[in-house]
Amino acid sequence: MGTLMVQAGTVASDADVETLRQIRNSGRQWMTRSTAEISPEQQAAWWTQRNARTCRVWLFRIADTAVGYGLLRLEHARWWCSLAVLPRFQGQGYGRAIYTYLACACDGDTWAEILADNRPSIRACLGAGFDLHAVLDQHALLVYRRNA
Ligand SMILES: CC(C)(COP(=O)(O)OP(=O)(O)OC[C@H]1O[C@@H](n2cnc3c(N)ncnc32)[C@H](O)[C@@H]1OP(=O)(O)O)[C@@H](O)C(=O)NCCC(=O)NCCS
Repeated sequence: MGTLMVQAGTVASDADVETLRQIRNSGRQWMTRSTAEISPEQQAAWWTQRNARTCRVWLFRIADTAVGYGLLRLEHARWWCSLAVLPRFQGQGYGRAIYTYLACACDGDTWAEILADNRPSIRACLGAGFDLHAVLDQHALLVYRRNA
């Protein structure tokens, strides 16, 4: 992943599932679906019922420190990205690296739904090679796509 020294790892333990929850909650106001706080119990239940084929998740670490996560969800035959970087690690290129990693992990095109006022996410995804695909005015939602 370039010179950033950030490593993608699978979510393998209960501690990883909890780390994933904390990173997701740190950026929850920018999520395009549910922005609700996720409790440890909700997170554990979600993880148990997750379909690993249609919902793929990675934690991104520098040495042993988790700085962000990336998730790919197969929905209506499209792979959709979801990601967050912990606030103290933002603005250092990790978001762009995670978008790039997710796009490379997909067989086909990769899709991202981003709120129109989420400038860091838009810049990170453009930097990773995505292009604007559609504007859904009603929700101030922009849809980006990176071709395979
Ligand atoms: C979106 C997010 C993952 C980006 O992670 P990041 O590590 O900060 O991303 P990067 O450092 O790779 O890139 C951020 C880009 O936004 C720019 N940026 C950073 N903060 C900014 C701000 N407040 N306003 C405008 N641009 C900003 C950076 O300059 C950089 O652009 P550049 O590559 O053209 O220089 C991170 O901000 C985050 O977790 N946000 C909360 C959750 C979220 O929004 N997730 C995505 C939902 S679609």
